[in-house]
Amino acid sequence: MKKLASKHKLNFVDSELEILKEKNLYREMRYGISKGSKITINNSQLLNLCSNDYLGIPVTKIQIKQLQSSSRLVSGNDESYKKLEDVLAKHKSQQSSLIYPTGYMANLGAISAIAKKGDLILSDELNHASIIESCKLSDAKVSIYKHNDMTDMNKKLKQKGRNKFIITEGIFSMDGDLSSLKQITEISEKSDAITIVDDAHGDFVIGNDGKGTPEYFNVSKKVDLYVSSLSKGLGSFGGYIASQSNVVDLCINKSKSFIYTSALPSFLVEYSFKRFESDRERQKKKLEKNTKQIIKGLKEIGYEINSHSQIIPIIIGNEKTAMDFGKFLFDNGVYAQPIRFPTVPKNKARLRISVTAWLSGREIEKTLNIFEKAYSKFHS
Ligand SMILES: Cc1ncc(COP(=O)(O)O)c(C=O)c1O
Repeated sequence: MKKLASKHKLNFVDSELEILKEKNLYREMRYGISKGSKITINNSQLLNLCSNDYLGIPVTKIQIKQLQSSSRLVSGNDESYKKLEDVLAKHKSQQSSLIYPTGYMANLGAISAIAKKGDLILSDELNHASIIESCKLSDAKVSIYKHNDMTDMNKKLKQKGRNKFIITEGIFSMDGDLSSLKQITEISEKSDAITIVDDAHGDFVIGNDGKGTPEYFNVSKKVDLYVSSLSKGLGSFGGYIASQSNVVDLCINKSKSFIYTSALPSFLVEYSFKRFESDRERQKKKLEKNTKQIIKGLKEIGYEINSHSQIIPIIIGNEKTAMDFGKFLFDNGVYAQPIRFPTVPKNKARLRISVTAWLSGREIEKTLNIFEKAYSKFHS
């Protein structure tokens, strides 16, 4: 193939990439084929410890119909949406729900629709990039409180704002710890703040009937707006919000990431519905058992583990060591991604293990053996 000449005016791109490489922050994509607990990359079959398909619901068959190829407000609003939105609203004990193409777009669309200039948003310092971006889009004043720190939150809530919002994740995506939702909802009630919970990682996974982190803390009804993903616990694709009907109506009318984009293909909506209706409880129990086994095993090896959820970070610190750690695991048949800045703060690089119900007891034992070898190599 003829090599295209590089354009001089784009030379700065090379410099930017070079800087990322020098700082060990360069990211590369790998092509992989996932099947159950395994992933095949470059002809190597590895145990997959970085999938967000936490429940590992067995493959669901759906029929692919003609795509609607339009925004939902035009002709893309297939009937399957209503069926799924009704069950999701009930699942969250809310009046209504609205599906977006992704969880990322749900945050962008909903938060920027409900908060505006003159409002005050309190956001946890470890909140996901989609929350950070959506806060910026809203034009509200954004005040970042220390991670899960209620004293700092209370202090920052004293600032002026027409409407005040507190936004937190349910299970934090890179640390696996749970947000202090009992205290947060109490503070919200006292100060009349609106509570928004992004439960992308807790939804379908914890709480009675997989209703998520607020249900786990028994505060479901006190959350004003839920944001979640269908691409993690449920192992499908898409995002959604759930709230009272007028909030959903406002989002239909104001969310740019809802109005100005094509609808999620209806076969994915049906796929989510089928998976929602499957035996999630059995998978949830399996996930809980696997999580306990991995946490116990890692602690016995000597790793410092503070997570109780299916997201288990092993904090390494230095970016280069985290990359080397990941490579060692890869070479020994385990796929777990090193996570670096800007996803986590600088010098807080980590291996993020995500447990799924796909893993068998034997596969977990094998994984732990490899982590034991890694411990001797990287912790001496
Ligand atoms: C906390 C949180 N919110 C939202 C998202 C975005 O979800 P989706 O993958 O459906 O876009 C993610 C995904 O990584 C997440 O971790």
